[in-house]
Amino acid sequence: MTAYAALLSPGRIGSLELRNRIVLCPMGVLLSNPDGSVSDTEVAFYEARARGGAGLLLIGTANVAYPEGTNHPQMHAVSDDRYLPGMRRLADAVHRHGAKVAAQLNYMGVYAQYDMLRGEPRLVPYEPAFPAPDAVGRMLPREEATAMATAWLTPGANTGFRVATEDDIHRVIGRYAEAAARCQRAGYDGVEIHAGHGYFIDSFLSPRNQRTDGWGGDLAGRARVLLTVIDEVRRAVGPDYPVWIRLNSREYHHDVGETFTEQTEVARLAIEAGVDAIHLTAYANTDVATAATDAYAPHRVGDLPRYAAELRRATGATVITFGRHDVDAAERLIADGTGDFVGFGRRLLADPDLPRKLAGDRPEQIRPCIYQYTCIGNIALREPMRCAVNPRAGRDAEPLPQPSGPRRVLVVGAGPAGLESAIRLNHAGHRVTLIERDVEVGGMLRHAAALDEPLADYLAWLRRTLADTDVDLRLGAEYDPAGATAYDEVVLATGGDWTSALPGARTVPDLAGWLTADDDTVGARVLVLGTGAPALRIAQLALVRGRATTLVTPERYVAPELGAPGRHRHIQDYLDAGGQLLLRTPDDAVGELVAGADTVIDVRPRVGTPLPEGVGGHVVGDAAGPGAINAATRGAMELAATLATRRSPSRPGSPAPRRKPSARERRR
Ligand SMILES: Cc1cc2nc3c(=O)[nH]c(=O)nc-3n(C[C@H](O)[C@H](O)[C@H](O)COP(=O)(O)O)c2cc1C
Repeated sequence: MTAYAALLSPGRIGSLELRNRIVLCPMGVLLSNPDGSVSDTEVAFYEARARGGAGLLLIGTANVAYPEGTNHPQMHAVSDDRYLPGMRRLADAVHRHGAKVAAQLNYMGVYAQYDMLRGEPRLVPYEPAFPAPDAVGRMLPREEATAMATAWLTPGANTGFRVATEDDIHRVIGRYAEAAARCQRAGYDGVEIHAGHGYFIDSFLSPRNQRTDGWGGDLAGRARVLLTVIDEVRRAVGPDYPVWIRLNSREYHHDVGETFTEQTEVARLAIEAGVDAIHLTAYANTDVATAATDAYAPHRVGDLPRYAAELRRATGATVITFGRHDVDAAERLIADGTGDFVGFGRRLLADPDLPRKLAGDRPEQIRPCIYQYTCIGNIALREPMRCAVNPRAGRDAEPLPQPSGPRRVLVVGAGPAGLESAIRLNHAGHRVTLIERDVEVGGMLRHAAALDEPLADYLAWLRRTLADTDVDLRLGAEYDPAGATAYDEVVLATGGDWTSALPGARTVPDLAGWLTADDDTVGARVLVLGTGAPALRIAQLALVRGRATTLVTPERYVAPELGAPGRHRHIQDYLDAGGQLLLRTPDDAVGELVAGADTVIDVRPRVGTPLPEGVGGHVVGDAAGPGAINAATRGAMELAATLATRRSPSRPGSPAPRRKPSARERRR
């Protein structure tokens, strides 16, 4: 008897029979071809998650009027019959593994930046307020700010809007119906109408829609677009085809915004109009930096389960719920009737095999999401989705390395890059020795794990996964270049160093020790110097431990390694807890700040550790320059691919080229 009996039990959405209660959340991953057609990468992305055991895969934002009403050219298009062959290929690939697939139908309205880039105004029910990001939301590296503003900065782009006429509304509704019928013909098992997240349908639902022509005003007027879409879609696909909606439970951070009471009424009307389920989400004012992490990509499990349970009770609807759940919580949500299905987004990016591992009672093998928001961060930069811990996500079509012959590999350093490299090379069939001068594995990740629970989970997973390999792990072992001749390949994963003594300042004698357990080596007034995520997390810890804390950086942001929603979440939490943040502080102002502090914690990055004289090899992780987990996992994956194609052993000791990735590349 599995511990996940409820989650793994079959379920139904209308006529759609699903093998379990696990749903891949809809994610617009930007993996389609630049003309909106299905790409090999996209097929492989969904096929991997079907093979991994999920019951239902949702294709995030399938554009009903592509290229119109679309955010990005590489979004999934369902607007024309020429997309049918690709759609069929995707459906077949998913069905081969016993999963079902449905498209999330969308017309993006105010978020249709591809319309802007094509010189077209965006079609909206009413002119929205001019965006005014709050101070935290503006904390972006310049290159990120530029990428996010592409559609405003590109010459010839149209930054304007067109308020939808009666004809426009009927035309867009018609596109939903046609698209639904096309999805049915392609072999998709259902459609989810996106009625949330501020897109076209939702912007009609909002109480900010005060149109007076019957498509706004009171709830009946505001719900009319959604209900007409449901009617027309039903007419196009017939009574039995599974159709449901993704609907906000409420909007956060708006004086005038959707409330749960009204949205429950919308759900009731939608059910009467013939939908088979409600996928309950939330939205927020995007001027607020924490909008995503308060609403549809929650950083903490928040209100969504409560709303799901209430909606299910009030309407009797089949409910899909989601929101940063771990697998044990998800099991409870199904067992106690909070929802009928649980969506996983980020966790199924990190490990597509999550359901299969549950079915095999091997939950400890699931690669955890570390909530660094690389996934959503990248989409906001208009780049394909990437995952910090699973570099194959979004590159699922690339062949796994198959070594032509096992090689003897020495990996030096057992931090994240060394552990990931050792594990991947071992899985690829090589004979790996991993040496670490410390008495424990983990490197800097051990300290980071003291600050961040998901990183602690990740380190624990690395330890367990390493223990399941036959990597020869030698702790307390120093690197000896002379001994390296016994190996075909040497991999240096010796890490970076993000702490240093600041001359003349009261620094912490044993910072690593203090991170694990508080003591009086850190005084009442703490100054943290640094820009990276470690500096921010240490400042957060100092604050939690009751120190008056000031974080100082020369930049206009901190924690650039994190995807923007995660960065903004942590900065806001730090400020809300009373932390001081001094941005753009010139070096010559630091001296005075240092003088006013009892303790200075200097976490400014050092360039990678110097390599011993005459040593060559592959360099991964922070040893190649300060990066993040992203750089460690990607470096390990690329190394495994490089060694797979190597024909004859390279001479150990011969210096390998040390390619230095750009700062931007290291974030990916
Ligand atoms: C990369 C990425 C893209 C997303 N795109 C969409 C989308 O196109 N449509 C949508 O309704 N939600 C989208 N979301 C939100 C997810 O569907 C889901 O609500 C979110 O990931 C929270 O679930 P989780 O905690 O299991 O990750 C996206 C999320 C991510 C991470």
